[in-house]
Amino acid sequence: MKKIIFSLVICSALFICGCKKSSSNPSFTPDCTGAAKSFSKDVNPIFATICAGCHANFGSYSQIAADKSAIRSRIIDGTMPQNGSLSDAQKNNIVCWIDSGAPNN
Ligand code: HEC
Repeated sequence: MKKIIFSLVICSALFICGCKKSSSNPSFTPDCTGAAKSFSKDVNPIFATICAGCHANFGSYSQIAADKSAIRSRIIDGTMPQNGSLSDAQKNNIVCWIDSGAPNN
């Protein structure tokens, strides 16, 4: 019985934290006016410093480009980076680069 109560407490704690994370990150509206769109200069450094610690698979252009639609939606809805956040400029760089065709530039 104790075990069940314990698991219920943990589950509701996780649930509440889960809600907090998404509500404190309202959907982001990208603004591509003047956003940098160079993969090597503007986009890759963000993946290398912020995402690659958890996502070893985001280590190269082809791997990032292959997952671009999932990456785009996770940045817009604010669920990634987990346990962190990106500045609006960083979000614009990634989203606008994807929207410009995700070139290897
Ligand atoms: C602290 C660790 C951590 C960091 C930092 C992090 N992620 Fe994640 N990410 C996860 C975990 C764990 C999952 C799987 C659970 C889920 O889907 O929410 C995930 C799932 C994803 C997914 C969906 C699965 C996939 O590969 O298609 C995407 C896309 C993603 N992350 C993108 C990013 C991007 C982009 C960044 C950097 C801006 C980032 N993540 C930073 C831990 C992290």
